[in-house]
Amino acid sequence: MGNQELKGHTAIVTGAAQGIGKAIALELASRGAGLALVDIKAEALNETADEIRKATGARVLPRVLDITKQAEVEAFVAEVEKEFGGIQILVNNAGIHPLHKIEDISEEEWDLVMAVNLKAMFFLSKAVLPGMRKRKYGRIINLSSEAGKHGGTVAACSYAASKGGVLAFTRNLAQQVGIDNITANNICPGRIVTAMANAAGAAENQKFIDNSILKRIGDPEDVAFAAAYLASPRARFITGESMMVNGGTMRD
Ligand SMILES: NC(=O)c1ccc[n+]([C@@H]2O[C@H](COP(=O)([O-])OP(=O)(O)OC[C@H]3O[C@@H](n4cnc5c(N)ncnc54)[C@H](O)[C@@H]3O)[C@@H](O)[C@H]2O)c1
Repeated sequence: MGNQELKGHTAIVTGAAQGIGKAIALELASRGAGLALVDIKAEALNETADEIRKATGARVLPRVLDITKQAEVEAFVAEVEKEFGGIQILVNNAGIHPLHKIEDISEEEWDLVMAVNLKAMFFLSKAVLPGMRKRKYGRIINLSSEAGKHGGTVAACSYAASKGGVLAFTRNLAQQVGIDNITANNICPGRIVTAMANAAGAAENQKFIDNSILKRIGDPEDVAFAAAYLASPRARFITGESMMVNGGTMRD
């Protein structure tokens, strides 16, 4: 159990059923935060919620939600505000990464990638802001990617474009919300062992390891530790920043 610096804080984490989102949720709960978790995978989400409750004793509210639907996002945020009495932390983590070359990407697939990876971030951020502004406190953490910075090695162009959009969205958001003591930051993970990274294949993952300084692929916890810091009151003078969590594969 980490220190309890997030006691009394409530965090929304999207895409929390598995992978990086699950690790972030567990880390925030172990530091004392209450959780409202969303995903479209009902069974995995409920299992994750149970696991986190057992491990940390945290209050966890799991909700099956497609974050590309604005009205449903608004209703969910209103429910969390009511149930928990406020939202201090928003982690926009859910993302999809269909691995197609440009010739094989349909208009529908392009639109879906943009909707899940970028537009939903706008919906969630917009919905939590009135409460955060009123309480003069907030931490918004958006998952981008190395691909959002350099275009990626295996990434689809739709994915890279959406993650580049996340970087610009977050920097702009930071400027708009800082006046109310709300910070907005990006995390850019390198290759992290999850279902998404496994789809890239062993050979591509080995290339990542060869290029890294720390000579390994990342664990979801590596990203969770960074997210927990950015979500904490201690990260109070950091905003509009993007933190690379990549073992030193790319430095800027
Ligand atoms: N794994 C990596 O190597 C890596 C690298 C860079 C960035 N990222 C980013 O980190 C984030 C998490 O990645 P991951 O590897 O844990 O992925 P993952 O595929 O393991 O998990 C993503 C989760 O998002 C959920 N989701 C998808 N569409 C949704 C929707 N419409 N509404 C609600 N939930 C939805 C999925 O059901 C899934 O549980 C993503 O934004 C991803 O782009 C991952």
